[in-house]
Amino acid sequence: MIVNRYCTAMVTIIPSVSALPEASRVLREGRLVAVPTETVYGLAADASNADAVAKIYTAKGRPNFNPLIVHVADIEMAQRCGAFDDLSLRLAETFWPGPLTLIVPLRPEAGIASAVTAGLDTIALRQPVGVLADLARELGNGIAAPSANSSGRISATSAQHVRDDLGDKVDLMIDGGDCAVGVESTIVKVVDGAISVLRAGGVSHEQLSAFAPVADATSNATIESPGQLLAHYAPRVPLRMNAKELADTEAQLAFGASPLQGGGMTLNLSATGDLDEAAHNLFAMMKALDDTGTDSIAVQPIPERGIGVAINDRLRRAAHGSRREGDDG
Ligand code: TXA
Ligand code: MG
Repeated sequence: MIVNRYCTAMVTIIPSVSALPEASRVLREGRLVAVPTETVYGLAADASNADAVAKIYTAKGRPNFNPLIVHVADIEMAQRCGAFDDLSLRLAETFWPGPLTLIVPLRPEAGIASAVTAGLDTIALRQPVGVLADLARELGNGIAAPSANSSGRISATSAQHVRDDLGDKVDLMIDGGDCAVGVESTIVKVVDGAISVLRAGGVSHEQLSAFAPVADATSNATIESPGQLLAHYAPRVPLRMNAKELADTEAQLAFGASPLQGGGMTLNLSATGDLDEAAHNLFAMMKALDDTGTDSIAVQPIPERGIGVAINDRLRRAAHGSRREGDDG
């Protein structure tokens, strides 16, 4: 396979196929690598290296009370980092590698840097699809990786997005093309035999409910997962949901066969009304409309089922974040 390496002004970008040796060397040196996963791109550091983990928080401008997900090679590695009850283990066996993150009690002896868990006695663990899991295997321990975007902004689903947002704050970028799922993992915690969903994502409530009762904890008054903070995933311009008509200057994020007439530029999340396709396109299209310089974005209604729950969650936070920013300005 041809090694297709390209270098921008500041950062070297390499394709997934040739990434492992160099990326694991950069991680061992305590530096940051942007890595594709099936959900979104991650900004990766060795989870056992406190200095490296500190660089993640600095690069993202992330508040240090917001803990990171540790990505593992397999269930065995996950069990060295956290204590799995039977139901958590069954969920991991079913959905890994894949877009499910499990919150379990931290094993202090695992040597995870305390900044990763923001001092909590629990840890978020996920075995992703592809090169990030391979990197964890190569490194021999877990890799801390939040989404590779500035804190509060739209998550990156392509190497280009990472470069536009984080640029030279990343030491190495792995280009794995567009992310297949397009929204982040579902975050769950098993509480008294029930599955508490802290963040909707790539695994749906319907899929989880085959295993145990599912409780939606995404809007709990006490914020257990700081990613639940409302202002998040924000485009620069105001965004509104469930649009039934368009103002002349509004850009449209359409869904289904009947986009609204009028307005400015329209991008369609899925002309056939396919929610998986819509999730895959969501962040790239939000960003593309934001980048046109439109003064606002209107979004057609998205059904609240399957991965549509995660899409609506991200849109709600985007609407809130952009509105707040507008108010400030
Ligand atoms: O799909 C994903 O999950 C992507 C890819 C890169 O794996 N990662 C991702 O990371 O979305 P991030 O940092 O953007 O979101 C992680 C979320 C945050 O909302 C954080 O608060 C929550 O996980 N979290 C991490 N550790 C936690 C813990 N111990 N208890 C509760 N929530 C936790
Ligand atoms: Mg994020």
